[in-house]
Parts: sequence; C-alpha cells; structure tokens
Amino acid sequence: MTYGVSSATKKAPPHGERERKNMYAAQEIRSTVRPAAATASATKMQAIVHRQYGTPDVLHVEEIDRPVPGDEDVLVRVHAAGANIGDHHVVTGRPYLIRLSPYGGLPRPKNLVPGATFAGRVEAVGAKVTTLRKGDEVFGQADNGAFAEYLVIPAKMVAPKPKNLTFEEAAAVPWGATALMGLRAGGVVAGQKVLIIGAAGGVGTWAVQIAKALGAHVTAVCSSRSIEMVRGIGADEVIDYTKEDFAAGGARFDVILDMVGDRTIADCQRALLPKGAYVSSAGGGGDWIGPFLRLGALLLKSLFTKQKLKSFIMTPDRNNLVALTELVEAGKAKPVIERTYPLREAGAALTHVGEGHARGQTVIKIAT
Ligand SMILES: NC(=O)c1ccc[n+]([C@@H]2O[C@H](COP(=O)([O-])OP(=O)(O)OC[C@H]3O[C@@H](n4cnc5c(N)ncnc54)[C@H](OP(=O)(O)O)[C@@H]3O)[C@@H](O)[C@H]2O)c1
Repeated sequence: MTYGVSSATKKAPPHGERERKNMYAAQEIRSTVRPAAATASATKMQAIVHRQYGTPDVLHVEEIDRPVPGDEDVLVRVHAAGANIGDHHVVTGRPYLIRLSPYGGLPRPKNLVPGATFAGRVEAVGAKVTTLRKGDEVFGQADNGAFAEYLVIPAKMVAPKPKNLTFEEAAAVPWGATALMGLRAGGVVAGQKVLIIGAAGGVGTWAVQIAKALGAHVTAVCSSRSIEMVRGIGADEVIDYTKEDFAAGGARFDVILDMVGDRTIADCQRALLPKGAYVSSAGGGGDWIGPFLRLGALLLKSLFTKQKLKSFIMTPDRNNLVALTELVEAGKAKPVIERTYPLREAGAALTHVGEGHARGQTVIKIAT
C-alpha cells in the first residue's frame, strides 16, 4: 500500500484561509455572496446551530440559509456526517485554547454550524472548479458546517467516495487520516511490532487496520468488551487494559501509537525498544491547553533519549483521503460504525463521543 504523498510535517493550507471560505459566520455569508448565486442563498436548509459554548445539548436544529460556494468551492448535499471528539471540543469550547483557533471564536462560537467529516453528493460547483460536477459522490473533512443538509468546502479538499461504501460509512473514513498520520510519524514498516493504545476507538480501529495493511505485527490495547471486535479487524494480540498493564509485561515495541494518553511518558518508554518511537495522538491535559501539555513534555524528554517521542496535530489533506480510499477499496480496511443518529440528535451523538468510551465511529445520518 502507499501512505499517500503527504508527510506528518507537510504544511497544510492555512486554516484561516479555508475558514474564510467556509462561510457560516453571518458577516462572511454576506461578503462572499456573488450576484449570480443570490438565488441559491435564498434557499433554506436544516442545520444544527451552535450559538454558545456548553454541553452538546446547547445544539438544536434550525432552518437557515444554505451556504453559497465561491469560485473554487463545491456545494455538497450532505448525506452523513461523523461525530467525533474534535466536534465535542468545538461545541464545548474546551480545552479553552480552541476558542482562540479558527474552530472556536470569542466570546462565542464564530462558526454557526459544527461538524467536520462528511459524505454526500455535489450539488453545485464554483466557476473555477473543473475536477468535480453535480452529482459526484464525495467525502472529506471540512473545518465546520457538516451537521447540515448542505456544506460548502474548497473543491481541492474533497475526494471521490470509496465505491464500496455507503455515505454513512464514507463519513467515518476521515478518522483514518489521524491514524495514518500517527503511524507515519512513527515510521511504521512491515515486520515491526506496533502497540495501539485505544484500539477500539474511532481512530484506533483505523490504526489497527492500517498498521496491519503495512505489514506490522499489531498488539491492541482495549477493554474487555472490545476484545473480539479488535481481533475481528486484524489485531494479532490484544491486551485488556482492565486486567493487564502493557508497560509491565516486558514486551517491547518498535512503535507505540497512543490514543488515550492516561499513562506517564516514562511508562510508555518502558514498553518501547531502545530506538523505538512513541507517538501521542491523545487529548488529556485538562481544560486549558489540552494536549499541548503532553506535547511539551514529549519535546523535552526527547532531548535525553534515543527513543523518538512525538505528537502531532491532524490536518485535513485530500491525499490522505485518497490513500484511505485505496485501502478501503482493496478490502484492507473498513469503517467500524458503532452508532448512527439522526441530524436532530447530533447533540446526543456528541454527548456519546464526549464520554470517551465510543467504539469505532459515530455517524449522523442526514439524507437518504
Ligand atoms: N492528534 C490529533 O490531531 C487528533 C485527531 C483526532 C483525535 N485525536 C485524539 O485521539 C484520541 C482518540 O480519539 P478517538 O476519536 O479514537 O476517541 P474515542 O472514539 O472516544 O475512543 C477512545 C477509546 O479509548 C478506549 N479507552 C479508554 N481508556 C483506555 C485505556 N486506558 N486503554 C485503552 N483504551 C482505552 C475507549 O474504550 P473503553 O471505554 O472500552 O475503554 C474508547 O474505545 C482522543 O484523545 C482525541 O482527542 C487527536
């Protein structure tokens, strides 16, 4: 398989730029409407709106104007969206640092409609878009706006939907990009021993399958209820964290990909080979700066060891979507969808993922 072209360090397009194009802030809708598109902007849609930070029950359905695509954008009829922990951070505004980012806003959320990963059909294309046309089935990850019947996104950020997946399944594929970036940051190659902590979650289920597709020997860490599931997606060995401690068993791994982050870095280093790589994709760090605390500690500790200690921030990249599609269409990986909610229950979906015990991916079904 190929990893796709980008590396974990590839510079993503500035979020601010994409943000300007993802036009749900009221002023921006006004400033980007072109005369030819004025009719479309009058068309309404059902959407989940986010006017204040709080628990996901602050979310509700409203009828609002459809967004209008700019010259390089596409308007997508959204059939399904993913509900993940990142969306939970956006809706709650925690860690607070997110409020200073393009995903947040002060004193209140600046993006009216939350939601990032989606799958749907192209409804209209901007004047300069030549790669997509009305009716194309696509999927991708937007900065916001996916919890709605229609979404605007730059054409260069979407990819053709995997042919063998439904829209609901395709909306769960972009989680795989985080797993891909994490395994890439660890430099996983065939024959290596890889430990996946949090293997049963939305990212972890992809990580197990992608590491297997790369030819690694995979040990999955999960709770008792998920043992069969992670075996079913290819894990060679399973550690039930409620009964065993991966750091105490004496096993040593080439790469550890950590999606939980509840163990000290020293514990994780004990389970690594002397030149192994530990990659943290985890949150944690409390309500203020979140994962940046662990990132700082990893940077500091990495100065004093031959082990590689890393963290990364997932940045949406179409090349990753294409790489995941190759895997899915080759039958080497598939989404593991635990629950599906209707659009009006998006808040309940986010409450579920926010509890930290989701298995596989959680999807919001928007259209049939
Ligand atoms: N770096 C990035 O840019 C990036 C991007 C996306 C996500 N993330 C982070 O990646 C992490 C995982 O995201 P996700 O969407 O996969 O979360 P998730 O779907 O909520 O999955 C978390 C999983 O971890 C399991 N778990 C809890 N405690 C565990 C432990 N001690 N050992 C092993 N497994 C444990 C849970 O299962 P049980 O309840 O059964 O134990 C659950 O299945 C989050 O911290 C998220 O913030 C980072």
